[in-house]
Amino acid sequence: MNTMTNDLPIVGYVDRLSARPGEVLEFKVSSVSAKPFNVRLVRSISADPNPDGPGIVEEDASQFFGDQSFASIRQPFAAGSYGIADREVAAKPTTCITLSAIIFPTLLTGQAQTVLSFGRYDLHIGEAGAVSLRVDDQTITIDQPIKLRRWYEITANVSDSGVTVEQTTLTSPLVAPLQANGEGIPHLATSAIPTVAARVTDGHATQHFNGKIEAPYIKVDDQNLCVWDFSKDISTTTAPALIGPDLKLVNFPARAVTGSSWDGTEMNWSHKPGHYGAIHFHEDDIYDFEWKTNFTFTVPDEMPSGVYIMRLDCEGKQDAIPFFVCAPLGKAKAQLCVLISTITYTIYGNHARPDYDPSWQDRMTNWDAYPHNPAEYPQYGLSTYNYHSDGSGICHASHHRPLFNLKPGYLTFGDTPCSGLRHFPADMHLISWLHNQGIDYDVVSDQELHNDGMAAIAGYNAVTTATHPEYHTPESLNALRDYRDNGGNLLYLGGNGFYWRVAVHTENDSLLEIRRAEDGIRAWAAEPGEYYNAFDGGYGGLWRRNGRAPQQLVGIGFAAQGEFFGDPYRRVCTDPDYNWVFEGIEGDLIGDFGLSGNGAAGFELDHMDYRLGTLETTVLLARSVTRDTGFMLVPEEQLTHLTNLTGGTAKDAMHADMIYAEYPSGGCVFATGSITFCGSLPSKNFDNNVSRLLKNVMLRFLD
Ligand SMILES: [Fe+2]
Repeated sequence: MNTMTNDLPIVGYVDRLSARPGEVLEFKVSSVSAKPFNVRLVRSISADPNPDGPGIVEEDASQFFGDQSFASIRQPFAAGSYGIADREVAAKPTTCITLSAIIFPTLLTGQAQTVLSFGRYDLHIGEAGAVSLRVDDQTITIDQPIKLRRWYEITANVSDSGVTVEQTTLTSPLVAPLQANGEGIPHLATSAIPTVAARVTDGHATQHFNGKIEAPYIKVDDQNLCVWDFSKDISTTTAPALIGPDLKLVNFPARAVTGSSWDGTEMNWSHKPGHYGAIHFHEDDIYDFEWKTNFTFTVPDEMPSGVYIMRLDCEGKQDAIPFFVCAPLGKAKAQLCVLISTITYTIYGNHARPDYDPSWQDRMTNWDAYPHNPAEYPQYGLSTYNYHSDGSGICHASHHRPLFNLKPGYLTFGDTPCSGLRHFPADMHLISWLHNQGIDYDVVSDQELHNDGMAAIAGYNAVTTATHPEYHTPESLNALRDYRDNGGNLLYLGGNGFYWRVAVHTENDSLLEIRRAEDGIRAWAAEPGEYYNAFDGGYGGLWRRNGRAPQQLVGIGFAAQGEFFGDPYRRVCTDPDYNWVFEGIEGDLIGDFGLSGNGAAGFELDHMDYRLGTLETTVLLARSVTRDTGFMLVPEEQLTHLTNLTGGTAKDAMHADMIYAEYPSGGCVFATGSITFCGSLPSKNFDNNVSRLLKNVMLRFLD
């Protein structure tokens, strides 16, 4: 998977996506040039390259970090997870040596795939797909390829009487064991670092295994030399040994996956770890690149909170590394705080869309947009919206690697009659609007919410999301709830928010886990028995399935998924008490235009539902005029081909509700329920009815 020939000429990432004054950001850059690369700091105002909008707008910020040059270094990255013992072990067999493991292979690659390697011995799946043992340069192979997605115990024994390689089926229907035998191969002494799921030579891993491995062991003269139990320390990157050296897990294989003993009697790995004694390795696991730091930046005290970009340039090739500067903890510098959905950005990181088409390059060139797409560079690791090469869903994500979609000017949809933006560039529509309207703001990211809870936002009169705050940890979700319940005003200007539960790794807080459990709009489906997170033991999947539907937080929740187009809202509230929302707006239709989907209510829509937590006193301000075709009711709302949970028709259930609610704490919520809402703000040079409506609400919330 590591196709170094196709590397980007210059690309980088930063160790943390957000920082407060005094905190240090470490920038990691790989540049293939022999010449130094130049760095320039800018403040980002708009990241939409569409010439029909404000365009890319940036301000010089060299007063905080003067233009500088740094030596180019080409930084390596190598995909593929494996386990490697933390020390060498020595074996001097006098009668025999045995290597064994339980395996569940998921992909034949035409290449050898190591299960357990120990010096001159390598127990593996051979090029033809059969279980094999290699001893130095001799190989003994079972004469039939192994079948995928079944459990086998495989054992290789080298003894005075010859070599035996055996596979025993553990998955019903059981079949007779298969065996291969060889002679003339001695059981020679060896001293080496054992590895699981790859061979490692001089730190370089090859022969990656695809599939699950359980309970590997090495015996010498019938005495245990190494025995590993993968059901221990599941939330960590160590697989402790019962006997012998512990295994360090590299490139974060999936843990808390069902093992050969799992029989459906338990769904939670922490209740019966013995049923979860397997690790799922993939040849394309890659998350934290662990690149060297080329330069650092300490956020100065006087630097305003906002969105900044380190712009890199080397011999005409560019890269851009955004980061988010927060105010000091507890010292708000503005009345408004914008929540930057960094967890969602990371979870979507390097989403290679199946509809990507190289013809998009024309628009990318014409607009001077970000010129690369992850679909053309899978070696940088794909997103949790993609699959591993063996067909299993990618459940880990990290921002410690280049993330293409986290670049200014990145186009998610290259063939639409609009800007086609999502996530970071789309969220900048809101930032550009705030600048246009002269509304001061600070920013905070999911990371601060996760780490500091409500304290991260307690000092603000209002907190607003941007387009798509979809992924949350328990901590980040609690922070927003507690803020509202302590009198804070919350604006939710997106769609499909507060939807999935994610977990942060105990040892590496850049690493996120998502289990696509039960239902929801899912890129892939978690396997039965694998709905609980490995990282924190929590029940993965939708927050709604955790008893915390989005309606509990913001009054509305995911209802409909459509193509990337939008429709207007129609005002439905005529109560004069709420005329302030619509002041200066003529007519009932709002937002029949926009840079995202050409309409303010589009792509992903949220609706009210009192049973799921919408406050009884919630005011429905406006409702989308959603077209008849092109949207589907989300699976968690469907019952049968005729019925759904609302009791009405599917068409009636599929709309965005724009709501206003006053909570007992005095905190207020304004929610739009559409992912394309913010895309309408810059239209007509920011002079439009969506812009006016938001300003009416925003100024009242900030007052
Ligand atoms: Fe999403």
